[in-house]
Amino acid sequence: MFMPLRCDQTTPWPLLQTHFAEQGRHLDMRRAFEQDADRFAHFSQSAPHVFADLSKNLWDRDSEALLLDLARATGLEAHRNAMFAGEAINTTENRAVLHTLLRRPANVALPGDVPETAQRLADVHATLNAMLAFAEEVRSDTAITDVVNIGIGGSDLGPHMAVRALEEFRIPSKRFHFVSNVDGHELHHVLQGLKAESTLFIIASKTFTTAETMMNARSALAWFAAQGGQDVAGHFVALSTNLEATRALGITTTFGFWDWVGGRYSLWSAIGLPMAIAIGEQGFREFLAGGHAMDEHFRTAPLAQNLPVRLGLLDVWYRNFYGFTSRCVAPYHASMCRYAAYLQQLEMESNGKRVALDGSTLTCATSPAIWGEPGTNGQHAFFQMLHQGADVLPLEIVAVRKASHPLPGHQQKVLANALAQTQALMVGKASDDGHRHFPGNRPSTLILLDALTPATLGALIALQEHRVFVSGSLWGINSFDQWGVELGKVLAKDLETRWDSGELAGLDGSTAGLLQMLRTPAV
Ligand code: F6P
Repeated sequence: MFMPLRCDQTTPWPLLQTHFAEQGRHLDMRRAFEQDADRFAHFSQSAPHVFADLSKNLWDRDSEALLLDLARATGLEAHRNAMFAGEAINTTENRAVLHTLLRRPANVALPGDVPETAQRLADVHATLNAMLAFAEEVRSDTAITDVVNIGIGGSDLGPHMAVRALEEFRIPSKRFHFVSNVDGHELHHVLQGLKAESTLFIIASKTFTTAETMMNARSALAWFAAQGGQDVAGHFVALSTNLEATRALGITTTFGFWDWVGGRYSLWSAIGLPMAIAIGEQGFREFLAGGHAMDEHFRTAPLAQNLPVRLGLLDVWYRNFYGFTSRCVAPYHASMCRYAAYLQQLEMESNGKRVALDGSTLTCATSPAIWGEPGTNGQHAFFQMLHQGADVLPLEIVAVRKASHPLPGHQQKVLANALAQTQALMVGKASDDGHRHFPGNRPSTLILLDALTPATLGALIALQEHRVFVSGSLWGINSFDQWGVELGKVLAKDLETRWDSGELAGLDGSTAGLLQMLRTPAV
């Protein structure tokens, strides 16, 4: 099994440190553009369905060349190939990492494929075909007006983000609802507007043990029965790798997936059912094809012209050399309002680690915090800090050239604003009045799509998955487990028991005090 080398233990690492100290940290992008007439062309990168301008970033050809050396020294290419081939690169769970197989066309073999691949690919397509046929049935069933997805984390964020992003492609005769939070306000609010006979509940959970989803599923089943609903098989469908548990809950209409699909990478599997119902079989297949096209780019393009690689290297450069602690993501498309939330799980759950694959503790920082809101809204809220705050926070914009609405004038305005933000951040504006002074030289990346379609969204999401792989691989961490979420789950269970018993022994003073307070009924 191939294991990448931690980047902080390779020969190019100290070279990059010296380069940063002597040159990198002094880079002024305005001067860099004057000195390098081809800077825009050099730092432009096309990939399937996506164009990216990386030129308004704090790097030059020398820093990029050293970062590419760093990638080679860690064994990034071999690690990438091991992932595509189905090796068990998720070593702490001894699992393959094969979300790319979910979008691989049937009968395509890759060099180095592990022996199980052909069978896995056949299973993928059999489930995909069945899931898409079911989606088409639901689409043509006029009795179903509301689809409620109950799931959390990867079983919510992906379908929620995509159904919202692709609203122009959505079947108009159905409403889509997403319930994730164990806070009953959310489910209660959704149920209030529904009727049992016209609702389809999708219970989405890879493990089918997640406390929030199980609670919401039970409450939905109870509500359905209380409303006089009879046909659970016709109104509840489960998406899971744990089909035994779905049956135990009384749900017999099921679509499965596999332990080699991580929750935050599962939108391409049966977890995509709400999206398939929303945009139909053809749309979903286009989404998969967009993702596959990006996979092929990542798998085959030379590192220096490989968009996920270039983005991932920039992430390492910013996090470990500049010390930037977060990245702001701003899609300039109102329908992409769940995009930042989706990327938060993708990157922070994948790369929020401080121990390398070999168990050693890293000496360098890992995942930045990811946050953001669609533009232009963010401009009137937190962009002030991007322009004049004491911290430098890289911005990543997604802009879409062609609007899918007919309103005149809007699209030019939204695109001009996206471009103006990147320009203002870099160019700045000198003033003797400190309050009105814009320091400039602040980094941004602009990712451009021709239109927001199933195919372009698929390519964009696969691009983001792979850039997270690149930085995680350089850091030598396992981007595919999430042990950090476990402790809170165990403690919540313990507190629930203590709630009933009133037992406070062994708790810290704050938790004991708060529990005691919360156990007394609110007035
Ligand atoms: O608790 C974290 C997590 O395991 C995520 O990784 C996952 O996407 C989410 O919970 C939901 O898990 P499941 O799909 O098994 O309900």
